[in-house]
Amino acid sequence: MLEGACSRTDLKEEEYPPSEDTFFLADYICRMRGRRALDVGSGSGYITKILSGNFDLAVGTDLNFGVLRDQSDAYRTENLVCCSGADALHVRFDLIVCNPPYLATDGITHLATDGGAGGFEVPSQILYSISHSLSKEGGRFVLVTTSLSDYARLARYAEHLGFKDVRIVARKKMFFEELLLLEGRLY
Ligand SMILES: C[S@@+](CC[C@H](N)C(=O)[O-])C[C@H]1O[C@@H](n2cnc3c(N)ncnc32)[C@H](O)[C@@H]1O
Repeated sequence: MLEGACSRTDLKEEEYPPSEDTFFLADYICRMRGRRALDVGSGSGYITKILSGNFDLAVGTDLNFGVLRDQSDAYRTENLVCCSGADALHVRFDLIVCNPPYLATDGITHLATDGGAGGFEVPSQILYSISHSLSKEGGRFVLVTTSLSDYARLARYAEHLGFKDVRIVARKKMFFEELLLLEGRLY
């Protein structure tokens, strides 16, 4: 495991256990197969573990070195890198998935959940980062967001970055919100 740009000390870096949004993303991606897949914000490793069974190469990244180091044996995989988005990676992936911090928050205190203004700030940084790491031959990203965040702005930003076929591909009703999966491709 590589330890990279993990030097922010002002953040609360709690571990994020597999939750409703994790399972929502897992259900959507669990039948996808291919050569290379990346899980940005790997956290517990739950999603990365699924990808590792279906792709020749599965990589997980997370800004929080502690969560990567402490992944349980049940979800631990081999290729974990501590970095933001895909910033440290110089390989292109067929599939990039991410359950990012997407909550609309005034500031960013909790690394696992706070998405910043409109729930746009952190997810948009991640989208920018992965735009350089997705295969240009139909590579696909799938990103979790919520009806409580400015997901339409996120979709427009994805199009601005050059992603095609950007759309909400799945919805899951929760008590106060709807979880959404935003998908896009690169051609
Ligand atoms: C909501 S949790 C999701 C964890 C796990 N993938 C899941 O679905 O249960 C978000 C994760 O993203 C990580 N994270 C936050 N900002 C990041 C960034 N810019 N690059 C990579 N990981 C980030 C957090 O440390 C946290 O582990």
